[in-house]
Amino acid sequence: MAQAGTILVTGGSRGIGAATAALLAAAGHRVVIVDIAPRPIDGGAMLWPERFDVADEPGVARAVAAIEDTHGPIDGLVNAAGVFGKMHKVERIRMESWDREVDIDLRGTFIVAQAVGVRMAARGRGAIVNVASVAGMTSGPIHAYTAAKAGVIQLTLSLAGEWGRRGVRVNAVSPGFTRTAALQAAIDAGLLDEDRLSRNAAMGRLVEPAEVAQAIAWLLGPASSAVTGINLPVDSGFLAGLAWDAYGGLTRQPTGAPTP
Ligand SMILES: NC(=O)c1ccc[n+]([C@@H]2O[C@H](COP(=O)([O-])OP(=O)(O)OC[C@H]3O[C@@H](n4cnc5c(N)ncnc54)[C@H](O)[C@@H]3O)[C@@H](O)[C@H]2O)c1
Repeated sequence: MAQAGTILVTGGSRGIGAATAALLAAAGHRVVIVDIAPRPIDGGAMLWPERFDVADEPGVARAVAAIEDTHGPIDGLVNAAGVFGKMHKVERIRMESWDREVDIDLRGTFIVAQAVGVRMAARGRGAIVNVASVAGMTSGPIHAYTAAKAGVIQLTLSLAGEWGRRGVRVNAVSPGFTRTAALQAAIDAGLLDEDRLSRNAAMGRLVEPAEVAQAIAWLLGPASSAVTGINLPVDSGFLAGLAWDAYGGLTRQPTGAPTP
């Protein structure tokens, strides 16, 4: 077992959070999922039945205390709750959307990391994995989301520095476009196109939620015991393939043109 205690997964009722909770529970861990829309998932993960909003600071503090009273010390935390960015030109961005994305994706990640991480540091053990995004490492028409996810990557570094001597590791994963219900909804609504999402990735395909879950499980467990403060892309080569369009695309061979 990678963690002796409980592993808490936010956003655990769907998508990457649900895939991670299912994988960890199948490996024999005691897993509790929390969500703003709490729904049970298949497998052995336990559902915290109350609504859990990562952006509600007093609510998170109360729930984390209650979860530890019920399920014992939280030794692993996966911050997977999040909302996607709305695609808009700058002049059309409404600050309600900006605030919502930053509130949940960045501020919410901090609120839960603070509530759980301070307890872990007091006990001298724990591992936290924040779900950032390749969007936080690149450019796109989702201005609040990219800023929030870049913030999550930076927050991961600063929390790793804060708690490193107290036995708590803090890392991030940055998924590329991952086939979750949220992404599928954007494809179905015509906002995103699957071919476009896949074709800039070196591997030419989307990421599956279970593949992100495997990376999170590694970062939570003892196999990564000397790893803290990193941001691990799990992106089917999206970052590796991004610039190739400028040279004719991934499927074409270089022509011998001068390089910049
Ligand atoms: N799917 C992708 O392509 C992709 C790529 C990169 C990063 N991510 C990130 O991965 C994370 C999970 O995304 P997903 O695709 O699995 O989405 P999803 O919508 O399938 O799952 C997100 C879960 O978070 C919950 N949630 C939303 N707001 C919440 C809140 N305020 N408090 C608690 N729970 C809340 C939702 O109810 C849902 O169950 C997000 O942070 C997202 O930004 C996703």
